[in-house]
Amino acid sequence: ALERTLSIIKPDATRRNLTGKIAAKFEDAGLRIVASKRIQMTPAQAGVFYEVHKERPFYGELCEFMASGPVVVQVLEGEGAIAKNREVMGATNPKDAAPGTVRADFAESVGENSVHGSDAADTAAAEIAYFFSGLELVG
Ligand code: CMP
Repeated sequence: ALERTLSIIKPDATRRNLTGKIAAKFEDAGLRIVASKRIQMTPAQAGVFYEVHKERPFYGELCEFMASGPVVVQVLEGEGAIAKNREVMGATNPKDAAPGTVRADFAESVGENSVHGSDAADTAAAEIAYFFSGLELVG
């Protein structure tokens, strides 16, 4: 089915001018970038976004990191976009990521892992709505 998913290019990647190289991997995989903006979150805004992880030991560090610099939030659209984006990203820990994936090529560590992508249809819908209004999605 035609799906939409939320992608975030994280501060470790924007800092190293990797926005274009990462976006090219999405487009090369057949994903269309139907919305895109560069923002900087506060730790509290990152905390709301990552609320599902609030009991994890790394939650505080994760929120500080996500607020430490600009991020590029994008909505990717395509057939099976949620799974396809996760394939292009590679495993959460770059040590486990398949060659050629974003995280294998660019991520610095499990925490500073260059990209986030929604993991399921319900989270994708909620994550897109957190950053974008319907008018900002142009397919
Ligand atoms: P992401 O897909 O953005 O969703 C939750 C994030 O938590 C994950 O990517 C990692 O960047 C981060 N994370 C997962 N495990 C750890 C960890 N052990 N230490 C720090 N951050 C982590």
